[in-house]
Amino acid sequence: MKFDHLKELGEKERTRQEQYERRIFCCTSTACLSAGAGQVHSTLEQAVAACQCDEHEAEVVKTGCLGLCSAGPLVRVEQKEQDSVLYGDVSPEAAQYIVSKHVPMTKDDSQVDDEDGDESIVPHDIPHYRASLRKIRTKTDFDKHIISMDIPFFAKQQKVVLNETGKIDPDKIEDYLAHGGYQALAYVLEKMTPEEVNDNPISHQIINNIWHNGPIENAEQRFYRNSKTNKIKFKRK
Ligand code: FES
Repeated sequence: MKFDHLKELGEKERTRQEQYERRIFCCTSTACLSAGAGQVHSTLEQAVAACQCDEHEAEVVKTGCLGLCSAGPLVRVEQKEQDSVLYGDVSPEAAQYIVSKHVPMTKDDSQVDDEDGDESIVPHDIPHYRASLRKIRTKTDFDKHIISMDIPFFAKQQKVVLNETGKIDPDKIEDYLAHGGYQALAYVLEKMTPEEVNDNPISHQIINNIWHNGPIENAEQRFYRNSKTNKIKFKRK
């Protein structure tokens, strides 16, 4: 597969994701799974389906580790033009609260037809489920699940290798491409000669830097060929 095709797939996925008003990321990595993230994830999907809102109002996304495993299961809500909100120790009940708080229910119950939709996702008794979402929205004790991003655990970290962790659905290769996946490999295979890869001591640094610095269009601006030595150099930001 050519580099341009990979780039195109990544861009298509980025465009798709940008259509969503909010995206709800549920960690389904090992520690959170062992704490019940599987059930939390399916509750999030069911609750969003029960809201019967426009399809671009919300998307539930499985992700890898969000970092604070001891507080799992973790759920992060990213909403356009708002700060993201992180929730910890999320139970299925708290998952319903998260959806009721962030996702609008755009139809009234008289319009709800619980026969339509995907039965594997949509709860059988949608009106009942919607009543439950309305009821839980009035409670405030679930706000205790909010974890501030200012706590030292996050504030003192500068992610480098794991910069994209918690943003990508590990089951979806397009999502990986949308975050720059495989670009280092594609760059090396298509833009560098075998000699450059083998002989140029900087080539390993190039690979690492492309890997860590995101999409190739940014990386390309930081790489140039030295006209005297004919070697590829990396320009720091
Ligand atoms: S496994 Fe979920 S936060 Fe680490």
